[in-house]
Amino acid sequence: MAESTYDVVVIGGGPGGYVCAIRAAQLGFKVACVEKRSALGGTCLNVGCIPSKALLTASEKFEEAKHGLAKFGVKVGGVELDLPGMLAHKDKVVKENTGGIEFLFKKNKIAWLKGAGRITAPGTVEVEGVGTVTASKAIVIATGSEVTPLPGLEIDEQKIVSSTGALALPEVPKRLVVIGGGVIGLEMGSVWGRLGAQVTVVEYLDRVLPTMDGEVSKTMQRILGKQGMSFKLGAKVTGAKVTNTGVTLSLEPAAGGSAEEIEADVVLVAIGRRAHTQGLGLDSVGVETDNRGRVKIDGHFRTNVPGIYAIGDVVEGPMLAHKAEEEGVALAELLAGQAGHVNHDLVPGVVYTWPEVAAIGKSEEELKAAGIEYKAGKFPFTANGRARAIATTDGFVKILADARTDKVLGVHMVGPNVSEMIAEIGIAMEYSASAEDIARTCHAHPTLAEVTKEAALAVAGRPLHM
Ligand code: NAI
Repeated sequence: MAESTYDVVVIGGGPGGYVCAIRAAQLGFKVACVEKRSALGGTCLNVGCIPSKALLTASEKFEEAKHGLAKFGVKVGGVELDLPGMLAHKDKVVKENTGGIEFLFKKNKIAWLKGAGRITAPGTVEVEGVGTVTASKAIVIATGSEVTPLPGLEIDEQKIVSSTGALALPEVPKRLVVIGGGVIGLEMGSVWGRLGAQVTVVEYLDRVLPTMDGEVSKTMQRILGKQGMSFKLGAKVTGAKVTNTGVTLSLEPAAGGSAEEIEADVVLVAIGRRAHTQGLGLDSVGVETDNRGRVKIDGHFRTNVPGIYAIGDVVEGPMLAHKAEEEGVALAELLAGQAGHVNHDLVPGVVYTWPEVAAIGKSEEELKAAGIEYKAGKFPFTANGRARAIATTDGFVKILADARTDKVLGVHMVGPNVSEMIAEIGIAMEYSASAEDIARTCHAHPTLAEVTKEAALAVAGRPLHM
């Protein structure tokens, strides 16, 4: 091995780890990143955000070609699914992205140590198949998360799959049962539903997307229901029998009651993810974890052991790539003596269904629970010219502002391209904008973003186009 001494050794090459490595290298540190996967980018680039978006878009195109073009005066015939072609598109996108990170590592002179890393002492990491390396400044734990298993269901990635298997099904299942009505359930359910599967979502709680604003949950359930997705809410899976033809699932109402069985060709388990710390040697060096297995850190990403830090899915907070990236940057800057900081109150959340869902800040339920008085301004996409032109009018933008000061406290969107529209709100809220600030900002016409401006006007009770 050519080198074994570094300033910073990052364990994990996902969005938290690779971004931290790049920023640390930019700041002049000698950096190594330990990653055992055959490609950089972690879950997000390899088996998460990126491949799922490739399949979401491809399946939207198929659906549109099949059913959605006649209204634009475009006649198409003989539309057929080429599933291997669609999966190849996804694989190509993944390769381009992971290859891109490898290029960035070379550009920034970051060493990729290919193997599993284990912390053997503060400042020392043993990399399987590589050897022992030292980190004089910091070891960064960025090992991400793994699928939460459901007792009684063994994931074989054939008939009972995790999100990884759901990205590579060799054929469209007739009946897909998704356990968990969260982000993965609705996104992957949408993909396979568009390709022809009958999708049933089994959710333990009484609504889908339970962590989002209640009105958003209700709206999405209605819209996805219209698209053909079925829901069994308030239901728990108590067992599964794999048969020659598929899987028989036993369900019970979460509140108790009589059991039922449902048949599936494929079952997707998407009940959340948990911190991934196995084999890292945390116990032997005495790094503390919390009651959910996450690495405990302080406000500066420090664990209880000097010189060992942690970021991303492996610590508390939403398990989102962009939250991990921000933490990676902030930590590298703190290590360099700068004032790195993440505003954890303003991490946007997006669900890439169609229409999309995007949110930032507080929900109505959270504001009510905190006893904060607020005004809500809401505007629907049905009243927006651009939305009509692209024939996608489902959804709304809802702005919640402080009743006293008008400061924007939360924004919730369902609609076309809201994954992009939420960025405007992020900036507005970072600068403590009022709803009036947004309402008085000139928005180009005709754009979908005018719905945001109208919602801001609606906070003051004076939308123009309603
Ligand atoms: P999730 O936390 O979004 O949803 C899990 C759902 O499963 C919840 O609605 C929960 O109530 C339900 N559930 C839990 N136990 C259950 C049980 N025994 N039976 C039935 N339902 C049960 O988790 P998900 O969808 O697995 O995603 C994992 C992580 O990945 C999340 O943190 C998510 O934010 C992230 N992710 C983010 C994406 C995005 O930003 N667009 C895309 C995909 C995943």
